[in-house]
Amino acid sequence: MKSRRSPKFFEKVEIIDAGSEGKAVAKPEELVVFVPFAAPGDIVDLEVIKKKRNYFEGFIKHFHKYSDYRVVPECKHFGTCGGCKWQHLDYKWQLVFKQKQVKDSLDRIAKVNYPEIRPILAAPTPYYYRNKLEYTFSNRKWLTDGAPSSEKSEEEMSGLGFHLPGMFDRILDIDHCHLQAEPSNEIRLFVRDFALDKKLSFYDVRNHEGLLRNLIIRNTQKGEVMVILVVSAEDEIVITQLLPALKAEFSQITALFYVVNDKKNDVINDLELIHVAGDAELIEEMASPVEGFPALKFGIAPVSFYQTNASQAEVLYKTAFEMAAVSGEEKVYDLYTGAGTIALYFARFVKEVVGIEYVEQAVLDAAQNAKRNNISNAQFFAGDMAKVLDEAFVAEQGKPDIIVTDPPRAGMHPKVITQILAIQADKIVYVSCNPATQARDLQLLEVLYEVKAVQPVDMFPQTQHVENVVLLHKRV
Ligand SMILES: C[S@@+](CC[C@H](N)C(=O)[O-])C[C@H]1O[C@@H](n2cnc3c(N)ncnc32)[C@H](O)[C@@H]1O
Repeated sequence: MKSRRSPKFFEKVEIIDAGSEGKAVAKPEELVVFVPFAAPGDIVDLEVIKKKRNYFEGFIKHFHKYSDYRVVPECKHFGTCGGCKWQHLDYKWQLVFKQKQVKDSLDRIAKVNYPEIRPILAAPTPYYYRNKLEYTFSNRKWLTDGAPSSEKSEEEMSGLGFHLPGMFDRILDIDHCHLQAEPSNEIRLFVRDFALDKKLSFYDVRNHEGLLRNLIIRNTQKGEVMVILVVSAEDEIVITQLLPALKAEFSQITALFYVVNDKKNDVINDLELIHVAGDAELIEEMASPVEGFPALKFGIAPVSFYQTNASQAEVLYKTAFEMAAVSGEEKVYDLYTGAGTIALYFARFVKEVVGIEYVEQAVLDAAQNAKRNNISNAQFFAGDMAKVLDEAFVAEQGKPDIIVTDPPRAGMHPKVITQILAIQADKIVYVSCNPATQARDLQLLEVLYEVKAVQPVDMFPQTQHVENVVLLHKRV
């Protein structure tokens, strides 16, 4: 290649893998090329641009053959919206490529012995599975008709939807999103049309002007809905007209809030949420892993963390619980506990649970959730895992028999791994949303732990993401 910028063309290249980052992979002349919206088995002409020292990005210029793994995407926004990068792959093939992602990570990164990977647990509903979506208002809507923005009116440039990939200031106005059940789309369209009708301004993220910033919609499996409208300033029309009209139009809204955010960033956790109508939180239920016990109830306040696919979260936790094979006498540590959901899922069937999490509000939610479910053998601690989980903490809380760990995508900090190796619990159940970092951590744990079971779970259909649960036993 001459320079980073000058494109190169390759003809009749076969796409060979689905990739783990949402872009498929081709290898013309041994170059590693990532290709968005391609499918393994496609034969295409590619324009290739160098992105980094060791990889390239390719754009499909012409199709010679369409892959047999393809289906027609459900969503008209596919290809522009950054949300569901695998919609063009048949769901059964998405599952195959997710299973392969787990295997590749174990083989190439972990390089440890492991038993046969169990078949991935598919999501029963491959669409409309999310319980939370955040939409953004913008005065710089992405124009799909090719016309220059200078020819458009303010109204025509106002949109409510998702950021375009890689463009912080452009929003794709969404007609219909297939990720969250109704009335999610109906609510978004109602708010957008009401705002346009009343000439309320949509946010200008470059100049930090405009009234309407974000619309967050959360729901439960039972169909209760929470709406949070984020505005840049108090506004009479919003308070006296828009919010009451929204509540009157949708009986499903059981919790309605607004929040004034005049900061440059979109974070609302540090702001006062103004409760407009209904309840202060949603209640999500999760069936007990053991028959005869009541379902757990979790409170979801506007900024609380909860797994975004509630029904598959149940499958994920059940997998972790069954792998742990508890006798009832164990002390369990739940690392990265969030709002305490895994800890509380285990609590009724073990002696004691200890959860650690660095978001203080989540720890308060966890304690509240324990109370709500009459669970008294659970304790929660706030702080950075690498600092909290030290020798003194273990001496104080007692050595765990089982460690459940569910870290963020980056995996566990090396200090946490060192501490886990020092604790020497009999079993570890490692729940991960990133098989690559999980595999790296399994490699580090290998000195003391062997992999006994591997169970991928699909929490996010239409995307490349896969969750993986691994059971480790201390070597004897
Ligand atoms: C993948 S989520 C798991 C949440 C929870 N187990 C669940 O199933 O709902 C990871 C959690 O780790 C927390 N976290 C991230 N980095 C952390 C750190 N360094 N120390 C403690 N907690 C951390 C995040 O706030 C988040 O709640």
